[in-house]
Amino acid sequence: TKGTYDTFMLKEIDEQPAVLRRISQHYLANNSSINVPAELLQLMAQADRFYFVAAGTSYHASLVGKRLFEKYTKKPVEVGVASEFGYHWPLLSQKPFFIFLSQSGETADSRQVLVEAKKRGLSTLVLTNVVNSTLAREADFHLPLLAGPEIAVASTKAYTAQIAVEAVLAKALGVQLQERLAVEWDLQQQLSLAAVGIDRVLAEKDKFAALTKEYLTDQEHAFYLGRGIDYDVSLEAALKLKEISYVHTEGFAAGELKHGTIALIEDRVPAIFFITEKLTASHTRGNVQEVKARGGNVVVVSTEETKGSGDQFVLPTLTPELMPLLTGVVGQLIAYFSTLQRGLNVDQPRNLAKSVTVE
Ligand code: F6R
Repeated sequence: TKGTYDTFMLKEIDEQPAVLRRISQHYLANNSSINVPAELLQLMAQADRFYFVAAGTSYHASLVGKRLFEKYTKKPVEVGVASEFGYHWPLLSQKPFFIFLSQSGETADSRQVLVEAKKRGLSTLVLTNVVNSTLAREADFHLPLLAGPEIAVASTKAYTAQIAVEAVLAKALGVQLQERLAVEWDLQQQLSLAAVGIDRVLAEKDKFAALTKEYLTDQEHAFYLGRGIDYDVSLEAALKLKEISYVHTEGFAAGELKHGTIALIEDRVPAIFFITEKLTASHTRGNVQEVKARGGNVVVVSTEETKGSGDQFVLPTLTPELMPLLTGVVGQLIAYFSTLQRGLNVDQPRNLAKSVTVE
């Protein structure tokens, strides 16, 4: 039930710190070993490449998973949109390992790929929020996301849980492979910092409501921009805003602006930049200037390490690949408040179903 909340979406957004603490408790509480089946880790250790397959928000979480896996396990990862993958299988490596991400565990596009992977005798794992779902039953292994029931059509806490569980897996496999970075990574501490960081973002709801009023009222188009991990989260933030507020929103790699997108920047167009990646922060700041020079209304979300004067939101710093745990929530709140202010149904946007069981 919604309890004291008017919408499931806001309730589910608010639950995210608790979700991270639950995941940490379940998977990482035992200091001597991570709570992932040894048999699964052994199989994964033998793989020469991982294939992440998912749809929508779960696909966006997979993009983050690729960065986590490649950094901490040093094994290559390919990420596929399920509806594309199913009909256009890439050439596989010698020892592929398939990881499916699905909140509902019922997405037909993802299931189609799973069925074919099984036919080919490939190893499969599903990360899902619904442990008695079709995908969980059909895959070789499944791990729970532990987000609790997600009712609002727009996925929020499942995205956060998917990233956290991907991090757990990357850490567990990295340790198994004796990768130094993985061994030294204090993930328990990072998840706890992330939970506190989300609490801080959630404490600023009034600021988000004021921001969406100022920047998004009467706007039909909006852009999210960032590089690297900030690009991954730009795609997710854009999906969130478009699917519930119906504002036409695109997420772009900030460096691609000058290759075309900048033609769309005109007076008052909202452009929200995520600048959490140190490596590219100064380049992205350059893009901010280009958008401002054309009259765009810029919002900058940065971190203690990358902040500049005038940034609207400055977030605490986490392991770089975990920043979407915070920037993702920023995107959720912007989507939530702009939808509310438009008088639309936050929990049940038009044309969408919570679980998509047709291809
Ligand atoms: C967006 C959203 C969808 C789902 C997608 C996959 O907010 O909810 O994009 O993420 O339909 O669903 P699952 O994760 O259940 O496979």
